Amino acid sequence: MSLKPLFITLLTTLTLLIPPSTPYTHGPRPFSSLQNLDNLLKRQSSPELLADLKTLSDSQLTTVGKIIKDILLLDRTTNSPQDFAGVRYSAPGALGSTACSQSTCCVWKYVADEIYSTFRNTETGTCNNLARQAVRLAFHDSGTWSKTLGGSGADGSIILAGEWTRGENRGMDDIVARIQTWYDKYKPYGARMGDLIQVAATVGTVTCPLGPRIRLFVGRNSSSTAGAAGRLPDVNDSAESILGLMADKTFRMSDVIALIGAHTVSRQRFVDPDRIGDSQDSTPGVWDVRFFKETVQESAPEGVLRFASDKNLAAVSGGKAFFDSFADSAGNQFNWATAYSAAFIRLSLLGVKNLNNLKECTSVLPLRDLTA
Ligand SMILES: *[C@@H]1O[C@H](CO)[C@@H](O)[C@H](O)[C@H]1NC(C)=O
Ligand SMILES: *[C@@H]1O[C@H](CO)[C@@H](O)[C@H](O)[C@H]1NC(C)=O
Repeated sequence: MSLKPLFITLLTTLTLLIPPSTPYTHGPRPFSSLQNLDNLLKRQSSPELLADLKTLSDSQLTTVGKIIKDILLLDRTTNSPQDFAGVRYSAPGALGSTACSQSTCCVWKYVADEIYSTFRNTETGTCNNLARQAVRLAFHDSGTWSKTLGGSGADGSIILAGEWTRGENRGMDDIVARIQTWYDKYKPYGARMGDLIQVAATVGTVTCPLGPRIRLFVGRNSSSTAGAAGRLPDVNDSAESILGLMADKTFRMSDVIALIGAHTVSRQRFVDPDRIGDSQDSTPGVWDVRFFKETVQESAPEGVLRFASDKNLAAVSGGKAFFDSFADSAGNQFNWATAYSAAFIRLSLLGVKNLNNLKECTSVLPLRDLTA
């Protein structure tokens, strides 16, 4: 392929994906850096499909099946993993009404509204500890799945089977208690635990200023059978160990580095007991790209505790290029938000058998907050 059509495709993609009113921090990257990332991405193996999408032909795909397939294959030209349209769902009736129970997304609208008001600091407009814990909880529920060893993944078992009490899951008591309350309240209206945990993480992300509105799919099975222990990365792991563990969940280096960018909003509690509450970048209430910059720089800013695992990934061969590409010296975070959204959707679908039958409920989510 000659370079010219590629340039035109990239330009068209950017023009399609970015609304004209988008502020600078979300606007198109300088052209050369987008090209850099695409070149870096091409040096990796191609992204893998999951579950039923591996065998279904295109003619057998539902609308949602096709969207998920495009997202998993990073086909940004057709289906972006983050939503820019900003359509808002309007509930056809009160919770429990016939009209509401006949619309798959209706209960999730009520759930998402309640989660949003719980996760947002109204005084500062930032996202709170429950929001950050929700992101971690979703990762730890899904992360028990392995391509080679199996397991059920995103099925709610972290709460339903009490996996959250394991050492590898510590620090999530508050979010578990909160989600249990929501589960008891919304289960009679059709909300299931496997979905609820992923919905909470997705709402948590968009509640943080600059957080992407990641497309939301529901319809997972839930399970009260515990997933296997020991399949989640540890804060002190080597890059090789993390990349190997994550490759066994179909993540490539770019996906792993995009995912750990969630540390943009995290605060540690167990890595260093003398520094409880220290964040992993200097703006833990904002979903920005500062984490990437501050992880690779010489020394940590005041009050920032950097995880050994994150520094290891920045130091491994090929790793720093992704950190740099996501950090973007111009302060633009389009590349990262897109890469993160795609990797998060992949994560949120691990172990789900029938992706072709899921439903999309993106419109129940709050809109992005671009004011940070
Ligand atoms: C990780 O390493 C730090 C510093 O050496 C240590 O204090 C901490 O206990 C380790 N954490 C785990 C989970 O092994
Ligand atoms: C739920 O489980 C049933 C029974 O195992 C399976 O047939 C179905 O595909 C699963 N649904 C999803 C969304 O994975």
